Amino acid sequence: MDASSTWIATPNIALIKYWGKRDEKLILPNNSSLSITLGEKSEEGKEFATRTSVLFSNRLKDDVFYLDGIKQDLSNKDTAERHRVLDFLRDMGGVKEKALVVSRNSFPTASGLASSASGISALVCAAAAALDLKLSRKELSVIARQGSGSACRSLFGGFVRWNKGDRADGTDSYAEQTFDENHWPEIVDLVAIVSTEKKKISSRSGMKQTMQTSPLYRARLDYVGGALEKLVDALDRKDFDALASIIIKDSNDMHAVILDTYPPIFYLNDISKEIIYSIDELNATEGKMVAAYTFDAGPNANVITLERYKSKVLGVLGGIDRINDILRLRVGSGPRALDEQDSLIDTETLAPIRP
Ligand code: PMV
Repeated sequence: MDASSTWIATPNIALIKYWGKRDEKLILPNNSSLSITLGEKSEEGKEFATRTSVLFSNRLKDDVFYLDGIKQDLSNKDTAERHRVLDFLRDMGGVKEKALVVSRNSFPTASGLASSASGISALVCAAAAALDLKLSRKELSVIARQGSGSACRSLFGGFVRWNKGDRADGTDSYAEQTFDENHWPEIVDLVAIVSTEKKKISSRSGMKQTMQTSPLYRARLDYVGGALEKLVDALDRKDFDALASIIIKDSNDMHAVILDTYPPIFYLNDISKEIIYSIDELNATEGKMVAAYTFDAGPNANVITLERYKSKVLGVLGGIDRINDILRLRVGSGPRALDEQDSLIDTETLAPIRP
């Protein structure tokens, strides 16, 4: 049997963040989170996504995985953990064939730009389609979650909530769409890239250390559930003033417990801090919230604003000379299948097609 499929998926940026697990193996979070799935292309026309082709074939002796043209070592713990989503899908399909996975990111990998989320959601969609498994996006999100937690939110477009769930087996810890991508079309995410270096401490290891050592972490868990409900309400009412302050506070709160970890962890750098001060100053000068910054486990900023404030915010970010690049992204519609002609695999030679 030879069966293949190619999909494209995009990262998501959490407005209420996930940080800490109640189950390490199943990747079950301590709190629910909510994110925006980003659009495939920036306003300047740059692609901001992962394309993944999966081919199952009895001509393959082992699983092989190429990421950005480089063959990955599947005995590496992190890669293997992500890759295990393939085994779940193979089991569901009752299939034994090995897989060739070829994945390409159009943005810097492991730079805090959530490449694992787009990568795993593209992989899960492509593998399930190749195996002809009729799984819902919700079911696929449960599988993606076990590759990398935040990846489960990239299975849907729009504004997506990952329910923490309570069950020990994780069946109620899935993603679902809260509002679709057309709910608030004025929303813009300005991604300010300040560094493309690989982060020193992965989010996986960082959140574990926070849980083990931060006395403030308990306080985060006490507040974050209520913050999520307020965020949903602000989105529902399209109240940008309320939305922006909730986003800023949650980013600050997560980075506070990260700093409270012992030994401490810093994901933000001096340029990130300059962005924080500049946005706070802009909001103060305007006398209302016109932008909100949020940072994942890295120094790059996602600045959420509205179309009508965009040029003002870009003006402020443009004044920070150490920002390398600014991408302007919209809310996206989630993963989609690509045509056979877009496949990244040469099915004759079982090799990646060079770009
Ligand atoms: O799923 P992971 O291991 O990539 O963790 C992601 C954690 C944050 O990006 C910092 C927050 C989030 O909810 O996306």
